[in-house]
Amino acid sequence: MKIAIIGTGHVGLITGVCFAELGNEVTCIDADEVKIQNLKKGLLPIYEPGLQELLAKNTVNTGHMSQGLISLRLKSPFYPIKFTTSIKDGTKDAIVIFICVGTPPKSSGEADLSAVENVTMQIAESMSDYKLVVEKSTVPVRTGIRIKQLMEQRAKTKFDVASNPEFLREGNAIYDFMHPDRIVIGVESERAKNILLELYQPIKAPIVVTDIESAELIKHASNSFLATKISFINAVALICEKTGANIEQVAQGIGLDHRIGKDFLNAGIGFGGFCFPKDLRAFRRIAEKIGTDFNLLKEVENINEEMKKRFISKIEDSLWNLKDKVIGVLGLAFKPDTEDMRYAPSIDIIKTLQEEGAKIKVYDPQAMNVAKSILKDVEYCSNPYQVAEGSDCLCILTEWDEFKELDLIKIKKLLKSPIIIDGRNIFSKQEMQKMGFKYKSIGR
Ligand code: UGA
Repeated sequence: MKIAIIGTGHVGLITGVCFAELGNEVTCIDADEVKIQNLKKGLLPIYEPGLQELLAKNTVNTGHMSQGLISLRLKSPFYPIKFTTSIKDGTKDAIVIFICVGTPPKSSGEADLSAVENVTMQIAESMSDYKLVVEKSTVPVRTGIRIKQLMEQRAKTKFDVASNPEFLREGNAIYDFMHPDRIVIGVESERAKNILLELYQPIKAPIVVTDIESAELIKHASNSFLATKISFINAVALICEKTGANIEQVAQGIGLDHRIGKDFLNAGIGFGGFCFPKDLRAFRRIAEKIGTDFNLLKEVENINEEMKKRFISKIEDSLWNLKDKVIGVLGLAFKPDTEDMRYAPSIDIIKTLQEEGAKIKVYDPQAMNVAKSILKDVEYCSNPYQVAEGSDCLCILTEWDEFKELDLIKIKKLLKSPIIIDGRNIFSKQEMQKMGFKYKSIGR
């Protein structure tokens, strides 16, 4: 199928590259000339495991079939992905157009839909035959109606609008695209439904076909529910700390009830990233605008903020005054396997420590370059041991595998005092205490 993807951010690129891998003829479009030139040379604007290889494979025909998890393209012909800055040229031959542009938050928390509006206008004005316009960016419910109204005013040919939210996790996005728990398509015509069913036919997953509004709501409701799960377990972790219970055992005990599920019950310093914090606020704003409140989500946010404050208190409990203390930080990204630091708990934690007068040394396997524009007056180290050397304590803020395999004997020798405050529970409390660390973690 000929498809166009507008927006080459995380969602757009993964979608484009994966649809190409499935044998479709894909054109990726972005207004940013530099990004497009780089993509033509195979240079990615984001880090996502496996994406570089898959992009290379789908721009240059190697004649090889994919190995392992990405093996869905069988005997389909090879169409190298095209890149362009022109919506007119890029959508000319496409039957399906995915809108994957950014919907960043305004100061009110509401999503800024100006980019969606802008590209919709351009699509409508350049159309000369039927198109299915699919919103993939995370948008408030009833955005589809707005897109449709705008298209009706401007388009001279037939079209359909659909919603097809993405549920990709950063760091696992390619796997998630090829092996989703479900595919959601919100449509209002048989034609649109059949096109999307055909497009997703190679992917083996349940397909939930809904109206457009329900599909839009599924996205916000899913992210809000997952964030609620995290705040719930974090609130329970605080009770564990006061009562001597162990949050990992509690999470296991409740998670094995299949109605609850064991995923997303890892207690820690809270959720970050560009999705949960933004989508929670946007969902609350949607509720407010239609005259209902969703205070549950406000509390989810409050607990998330509280986790960072509690983490700082643990450091203060261990070091007393923070002025001129050297605090080593391992992990800056909002989660492992990404360089993304948007709304990462590390930012607030480090800035608060700096306000208290502490000196900060940091290391992250991927996020160091990104961090340099966000965190000032920080000593950037080239490995975890350099961070530990001479530090008054070591804080773990992201659960990278690399940190789980540290030589802890060496770390202990390098630290000024053997204090580790683990915000992601990556070590066994008993083992750490046996090794002579003053070890604090979350909910145990
Ligand atoms: C999230 C959703 O999981 C995806 O389904 C969705 O498509 C995506 O948002 C989006 O809307 O685009 P992502 O933000 O990549 O994906 O990250 P997650 O893996 O969901 O983690 C989010 C945050 O929750 C991280 O900071 C992580 O450390 C935290 N978390 C996660 C916990 O603190 N505990 C857990 O048990 C799980």
